[in-house]
Amino acid sequence: MSQTKTPSAFYKPLSIGAPEPLRQLPTSLERMIHFIPPHIEKIRAKLPAVIPTVDVVLGNLEDAIPADAKEQARAGFIELAQNNEFGSTGLWTRVNCLNSPWFLDDLTQIVSKVGNKLDVIMLPKVEGPWDIHYLDQLLAQLESQHNITKPILINAILETAEGVNNIEDIAGASPRMQGMSLGPADLAASRGMKTTRVGGGHPFYGVLEDPTDTGNRTLFQQDLWHYTVAKMVDACMGHGIKAFYGPFGDFSDSDACRAQFRNAFLQGCVGTWTLHPNQITIAKEVFSPDAQEVLFAKKILEAMPDGTGAVMIDGKMQDDATWKQAKVIVDLAKIVAQKDPDLAKAYEL
Ligand code: GLV
Ligand code: MG
Repeated sequence: MSQTKTPSAFYKPLSIGAPEPLRQLPTSLERMIHFIPPHIEKIRAKLPAVIPTVDVVLGNLEDAIPADAKEQARAGFIELAQNNEFGSTGLWTRVNCLNSPWFLDDLTQIVSKVGNKLDVIMLPKVEGPWDIHYLDQLLAQLESQHNITKPILINAILETAEGVNNIEDIAGASPRMQGMSLGPADLAASRGMKTTRVGGGHPFYGVLEDPTDTGNRTLFQQDLWHYTVAKMVDACMGHGIKAFYGPFGDFSDSDACRAQFRNAFLQGCVGTWTLHPNQITIAKEVFSPDAQEVLFAKKILEAMPDGTGAVMIDGKMQDDATWKQAKVIVDLAKIVAQKDPDLAKAYEL
């Protein structure tokens, strides 16, 4: 007997009166998911100035919020959601994990009070599709109870070894799946990796060059997260959902942060978490396509109007496949241009 739902059942609301599940994700720009601790009043007071500078605001209720501030963080998130207009900026929350004493109240209170303003729930420590199924059903029940008009989507954090093993089943577990985020700190612990950093490289993880005549040999540092990001991108894109880089914990090292974000962008991620205001600028720069790339990609599209054949541009061969690559870049540039007039000019869009 099949263990999966029929295609029609997959897209049925899981509760009578819940909104129809989406068949395609909304086109939204999510270069940075900016984390804020909602229990801190000063941070909530500054939010109106932050909203227009980011693509997504996320109220964090999970790790980094002290156990004795969990309820204040939840109440602070509800307050900030009620008191602000977000316009084209997304509103997300990271709830506590499923085996915590706070998860159920996070869900019931947030959906009942601000469910119509909430775009995405980020679910930590997802181990398998069963975690998504539970949240999916609960969200449908709460949506129908509180007259929520558009489905609340789910972003699963990839941060356990078991979650990595089940990655494809998680990506395809529900039409609510919006994407996945890399959680390098929890994942490092879960895998038994020997690092104390939050994301980024490690000076001892590298390849030693072959013996040289001088006897000096360089260790070329490698990207500790290459494998996981690549696996996440394939699982997500294979299921039509989005992949995101996660936290970069060394706020003083902008260059390393930029390099890590850029690797994720080039590999297929659409955005990243930002934990500090200076990371917003870095994420905006990295996750908006480079103007020269966009202009070249436009040339390819213009030279091959129906997307077939082969042409030479600036000495480089282009064909149906490079047309598709160019389209990825130009499609993204068009979304960025709608939000950013300076980049629209640079992209000549
Ligand atoms: C994020 O939650 C992480 O564990 O890296
Ligand atoms: Mg974590």
